[in-house]
Amino acid sequence: MADHSRAAPGVAHHMSDHRPVGVFDSGVGGLSIVREMRRQMPRLDIVYVSDARYLPYGEKSDAFIRERAFAISDFLLAAGARALVIACNTATAAAAHALRAHYALPIVGIEPAVKPASQATRSGIVGILATAGTLQSRRYAELLERFGHFTRVLSQPASGLVEQVEAGDLDGPRTLALLRSCLRPLLDAGADTVVLGCTHYPFLLESIRAVVGPGVQVIDPGAAVARRVAQVLGAAVEGGGTLRCYTSGDAPAQQALMSRLLGEPVSVEPLSEASCVLPRVALAR
Ligand code: DGL
Repeated sequence: MADHSRAAPGVAHHMSDHRPVGVFDSGVGGLSIVREMRRQMPRLDIVYVSDARYLPYGEKSDAFIRERAFAISDFLLAAGARALVIACNTATAAAAHALRAHYALPIVGIEPAVKPASQATRSGIVGILATAGTLQSRRYAELLERFGHFTRVLSQPASGLVEQVEAGDLDGPRTLALLRSCLRPLLDAGADTVVLGCTHYPFLLESIRAVVGPGVQVIDPGAAVARRVAQVLGAAVEGGGTLRCYTSGDAPAQQALMSRLLGEPVSVEPLSEASCVLPRVALAR
């Protein structure tokens, strides 16, 4: 792992900064954050890494995810990133602390929106839909400890959904069946608010709405995360609004899927082989 801890600058205080922001996820899910960042900061240059060779992160060990997070962050720093966005709840839970201890640049992570949900609920019951990795993490336990007191929080693992999004199946019968099986227990228990605690899930929003119906609020944290990124970057965002994407997975397949999800042509290049090395730590959690 390269040591950028000294070389990396902190929050940009000067008037304008042309360097890109580095964003990563296990796959295409982080694009649900990227699209909000582009809406709010159209001139921002973004370099995005999809670690599709190693998804789903939700089933991997923390040590495995941390190694991948360091390899990708080194790549993004070498690409000139001035800040990093961990556009993945699972990777934030497993690696944000270690990345912040190592790199001296601003790092924005993402965690399930327990607090906004507990403020929004009228029934006092909220459902958190996330990967097993996120829901089993210490960070999530701490989040519940801080914000879950006056609300009944139902933590619902949604295994299989990440793979459905990666396969481009946003509303097919299998995706709808998986959604029904993880949302039904939440509805039966009286949840009136559902949090999308994995960045892949906003791409299933229409299907999720169709299953939960109009009486349930669905919280997509993308816009709030993008606001946080804007805050961290400071006033001036002076780039060309470019988006460069890389993947450890199948570049042509990811390119087709990313273009479809963002509704614009995106070009995806293979991540350098050096950044794709299989971690030598336990694979499974
Ligand atoms: N998109 C990721 C998240 O927000 C996780 C996906 C995965 O399990 O790979 O948690």
